[in-house]
This record gives sequence, structure tokens and C-alpha cells, in this order.
Amino acid sequence: MHSVNIYKPNMFIPTYAPIERTDWRISITEMVLCKGYWSPALFCQNMVALLRRGADGRMETWMSTSPMELESQELGCQAATGHVVVMGMGMGWAVANTALNPAVTRVTVVEYDPTVLGIIRELGVLEQLPPDVQAKIHIVQGDAYEYRPDQPVDLLMPDIWLWLMNDTRLAEVGQMAANCQPRQIYFWGQEMEIARHARARNIVLNDAGVRRVIDGFGLPLLVPDGVDYPDLIAKAAEGWMNDRWLPSKF
Ligand SMILES: C[S@@+](CC[C@H](N)C(=O)[O-])C[C@H]1O[C@@H](n2cnc3c(N)ncnc32)[C@H](O)[C@@H]1O
Repeated sequence: MHSVNIYKPNMFIPTYAPIERTDWRISITEMVLCKGYWSPALFCQNMVALLRRGADGRMETWMSTSPMELESQELGCQAATGHVVVMGMGMGWAVANTALNPAVTRVTVVEYDPTVLGIIRELGVLEQLPPDVQAKIHIVQGDAYEYRPDQPVDLLMPDIWLWLMNDTRLAEVGQMAANCQPRQIYFWGQEMEIARHARARNIVLNDAGVRRVIDGFGLPLLVPDGVDYPDLIAKAAEGWMNDRWLPSKF
């Protein structure tokens, strides 16, 4: 018999409260079973989610404190240094945890939706950080595809998508990279992108294979240190790769 453990995130989770503004809502679910990005299913207590009403009227989850969402972003927050540009405020989780990293000097967050920014302000999400950490954060209301920074960017962390994968992700990240000229990039879903390109080209997922795939992207993607990245990519792909999302050609 399998036992299921309680998820205990090792990074900061701000306190949120349920709120609804225009199409956006923050909800809190007392107990829910969630599959991680690379970890097995875990029970999540008081899971917070940011939802938006979609075109068909149904609520869609844009961000949550589930292990899938946090594991798929934490390597970027942990590896960040210097000036980080985060595309997409969402729940402010990645912004807060990147700013909490002592190696980070400045976090610029670009968010185009004033309602999202209003919710974060109303709930005092970033005000929960120590003053010196808050001082690192600069909020820009604007379009991630248009934003051009006024100072050098060490790490670009785009997370503006509802879905983990799409066929234009590399081009979209490439557009943001062309505008920001970052030293490194860690984008949401990059493990899926690496895995599906490796699979399509019959490249084995080991260190050399990951390097080969990334080199083919022509983007300075972050390869996190101190973890078995090929193994994590393989686990994430096993859990989340959906053949519907495999493009016929790249
Ligand atoms: C998945 S959420 C980000 C979650 C965030 N990483 C976190 O840790 O809470 C995506 C966010 O990107 C925003 N967004 C979507 N498209 C955008 C664009 N073109 N420019 C700026 N922000 C955008 C959405 O309004 C949403 O707030």
C-alpha cells in the first residue's frame, strides 16, 4: 500500500486571503491531492490558487502553491543572481522568493494586468517581505513582449502562460530575450521544451544531451547546479508531457 505525504514547501509562501476582482480570484482549498512537477503526489494543505475566468466562463488556474507550480519555478529563484527580470506577477510567489535570494540585487517584475497588480497590493503580498527585500522589487505595468530594461539583466524569468507548453514558446521567449539581452534565462516549462526536443531528435537525456538540445535553442538557458537536471527533466516529462503537445516539427 502507498502512503501519501503532506507537501512541505521549503520556500517562502506569503499569506493570502480569498478575494475576487473582475475576472480574477484567489481561492484557498483546505486539502487537495496534487501531483508534483517531479515529486510524487502529495497532499497540500491550504493550497492557494490564482484563477481567471476564461472565454467560456469557466475559471482557469494561472498559479497555485501546488508542488507542480512551485517545483517548476524554484530552481530559477534559487539560482538567480544580480538583476532578475520576472515576466508575470501572478501570485507574486516567484518575485518574493527571487528577491529573498541574497545573491539577487534587484527584481523587476513586468505584469500587464492592473487587476493582478491590485490584488497583490490589496493582500499586502510583497509587504510581508523584510524592508530590504521589498526595496529590491520594482513593478512595471506593461507587456512582457515589449518591455525593454534600462539596466543589464542577469536572469530573465518569463512565466506569463496558462499552459506549461505551447508550440511558440521558444519564439516568445526569444522575443523577450531580444528585448532584454539577459545573461541567462529560466522560463516556465523549459524542462518540457528540452524533453520534447530531445525526444523528437532521439537525444538521450543526460548532461551532454541536455547541453546539445539547449545549444540548439540559441538561448542562454540556465542549467541549474547541484541537482541532477537530466533526471528532473525526465521526471517532469514523465508526469506532464502530453503527446497532444508534441509538435510535428520545430
Ligand atoms: C502564471 S502567472 C505567473 C505566476 C508567477 N510566476 C508566480 O510565481 O506567482 C502569469 C502572469 O502573467 C501575466 N501575463 C500574461 N501575459 C502577459 C504579458 N504579455 N505581459 C505581462 N504579463 C503577462 C498574467 O496576467 C499573470 O499574472
